[in-house]
Amino acid sequence: MPFTVEHSLRCRKDFPALSREPQGLKLAYLDGPGGSQVPRIVIDTMGDFYATCNVNTHGKFFPSQEVDRRMDLARATLADFLGAETPACISFGQNMTTLNYFLSAAIARTLKKGDEILTTQLDHEANRGPWLRLQEHGMAIQEVRLAPSGQLDLDDMAAKITPRTKVFAVGASSNALGTVNDIALARRLTQAVGALLVVDAVHYAPHFPLDVKALGVDFLLCSGYKFYGPHVGVLYSRPGALDRLPTDRLSVQDPAAPYRIETGTLNHAAIDGLRAAVEYLASWGSGATLRERVIDAMTGIAAYEHGLAQFYHDAVRKLPGVRVWGPDFSSPARAPTVSITLDKTTAGDAAAALGKEGICVWDGHFYAARAVEVLGLTDRGGLLRTGVSMYNAREDLERLLAGIARLL
Ligand SMILES: Cc1ncc(COP(=O)(O)O)c(C=O)c1O
Repeated sequence: MPFTVEHSLRCRKDFPALSREPQGLKLAYLDGPGGSQVPRIVIDTMGDFYATCNVNTHGKFFPSQEVDRRMDLARATLADFLGAETPACISFGQNMTTLNYFLSAAIARTLKKGDEILTTQLDHEANRGPWLRLQEHGMAIQEVRLAPSGQLDLDDMAAKITPRTKVFAVGASSNALGTVNDIALARRLTQAVGALLVVDAVHYAPHFPLDVKALGVDFLLCSGYKFYGPHVGVLYSRPGALDRLPTDRLSVQDPAAPYRIETGTLNHAAIDGLRAAVEYLASWGSGATLRERVIDAMTGIAAYEHGLAQFYHDAVRKLPGVRVWGPDFSSPARAPTVSITLDKTTAGDAAAALGKEGICVWDGHFYAARAVEVLGLTDRGGLLRTGVSMYNAREDLERLLAGIARLL
């Protein structure tokens, strides 16, 4: 089912934040890569959780059994969102970064000095820092080169995946440049040498249907607040992959997947809210099963967002004194995130001026600090980033374009 302009306009009514006009200012939320707004159903679900079953799991009384039921349903729903084999493939945590620290620490215990871990210059620090610190434990860290086009250098990737490589940690899509990486290639190369493939899908998950089984990844991480849910991190582990890892956990904790990496009491209300967010997304698709509706909806949303981002990309690059970074929109495998620099003003000053007009865009490196450094933009204050979400309309981008034109 296509996701049309009418659908987007209709969905705006579901997001209470979008109808607010603080100080009489209509807001254009173009900051989706930093975090999305939530629909009313997510807010209501979390409120209902606190009103009806705000107790811990595994009790022998009704409200606790209700929490268990909701947590099981959330795992099953997120498994459908990602295309996972079973709900036991889905672990929850505070956010992607924290889960990745836990995961990398556990994987490191299975490695020996001199083993290599490969990351990339394009990745968000959340998929670099947890691996880079393993140098302190004797692991050798390599990084795939970022080409000036904003894409990974695939020859460099192929050359650096060797029998010494034990882990390749790579993003599915760049939150700074909108690049979509070739995860199928990464899987073929890592499989050939028996390395684990850990994919950061935080920027990919809001914009494309995901199929972890088809990708064949060992681990994949994403973050609920980027796809219209609350702040919850999600880890997919291939069946059997997590059970073998020496995770940090209490002796009393359930050692089986998916619980093996979940420390302490989870944010149950938020997890319930995330389940509602996925169901909300799926409601924009058709099909007999939740999985079919998720794929249909995400396919439609991807095409809609791609069209809008392409419109902005094509228009902004024509403005004098603007440079657009990252790959163009000739391929549908391009996230709807466009970053620019302006000759006459820094990204920070531009974002501040646009913010005064109610246009919400980010500036800087957005934690993709290595990519911004490699592109030579750190001293210039980084990039001015625009992200398109399902609730954005052409009008938001026209306002942004007019605002940028005024700055030139
Ligand atoms: C591509 C990417 N990876 C990882 C993260 C970190 O996610 P979290 O805030 O859930 O730790 C972000 C957050 O912006 C991101 O954009």
